[in-house]
Amino acid sequence: MKKDTSVKWEPKDPSELDLSNVRAAIFGGTGGLGRAISRQLAERGADVLVVGRTFRDQDMEKIKFLKADLSLVTEADRVANEIPAKYFTHFVFTTGIIAAPKREETAEGLERDMAISYLSRYVLMNQLAPHLGESLPKDGPKPKVFIMGFPGSGQTGNPEDMNSEASYGAISTHMNTVAANEALVLDATKRYPNIATFGLNPGLIKTDIRNNYLGEGSILSRTVEWIIGWTHQSPADYAKKICSLLVSPDIEGHSGAMFDCYGNAILQSPGLTPEVVDNFMKNSKALVVRALAKKPDETASKVPV
Ligand SMILES: NC(=O)c1ccc[n+]([C@@H]2O[C@H](COP(=O)([O-])OP(=O)(O)OC[C@H]3O[C@@H](n4cnc5c(N)ncnc54)[C@H](OP(=O)(O)O)[C@@H]3O)[C@@H](O)[C@H]2O)c1
Repeated sequence: MKKDTSVKWEPKDPSELDLSNVRAAIFGGTGGLGRAISRQLAERGADVLVVGRTFRDQDMEKIKFLKADLSLVTEADRVANEIPAKYFTHFVFTTGIIAAPKREETAEGLERDMAISYLSRYVLMNQLAPHLGESLPKDGPKPKVFIMGFPGSGQTGNPEDMNSEASYGAISTHMNTVAANEALVLDATKRYPNIATFGLNPGLIKTDIRNNYLGEGSILSRTVEWIIGWTHQSPADYAKKICSLLVSPDIEGHSGAMFDCYGNAILQSPGLTPEVVDNFMKNSKALVVRALAKKPDETASKVPV
């Protein structure tokens, strides 16, 4: 990953931050990195809504929970209709899995990793971004969206086979979600000038993300996670840096920037040209339309983009 020297910001210790003006929705805030970020924000006074399947932070008064299985486009659509985006200052997308060794399909006919790690974000982003922060003072900072994945790593994916129907491999399919998420950042940067959109690349951190690939609780999984835990930063350490980034005034005016595991700005993947980004968006829409067609009601008419 190459450094982006055009974006500089000054990190602050979380203890110096007053986040009482922050209202954040963390999609995937129930586990792993999203959860660590949610707790860090809430501890500094932010109001946080976490979206996921299992709530684990009942001890935190400032964290509210919206239950959803975001493997389903219809669920992402429901959540988009339930969240009053106009009041929020921040959205963070961390929902994800890694593709299984054998292709898995959701009830809507979508490859499961693509559905959870990318298409849910595509639906939520495009339905909510136009309204994000609409009620906030116009002279304040722009509402911000942070999309976590593996941006800047050079993945260009294959937008022509987003459902892994032509060929499937756990890693190549997951890398297609990586490229699609970076494309979502680049697309939103142009499409939604009312907000600022950023990519987050956390690097390797010990969480549950590899369970679907390595097998939850398997010897291989425990060994890999043990090594990652010893050699890399913890979710809480990463969250401390990223919370400061989320509210830094220095990134105003840098929509489209991507940040590595220490919060340093990095360059986008060079292969994600505007044509490739457009192809990802066009084919995302086609997959979402196809999934919603299984639900014969007015939902299909609200397909984003
Ligand atoms: N950790 C790493 O080493 C690493 C490296 C590179 C990139 N990343 C990226 O960082 C992001 C966060 O990953 P993580 O490490 O925090 O993973 P994680 O610990 O596995 O957390 C994933 C989150 O996604 C949610 N989720 C999974 N399936 C869901 C579903 N069907 N419906 C709703 N929510 C669902 C989980 O919620 P529930 O538990 O409530 O289901 C959890 O909150 C991902 O985009 C990942 O690709 C992580």
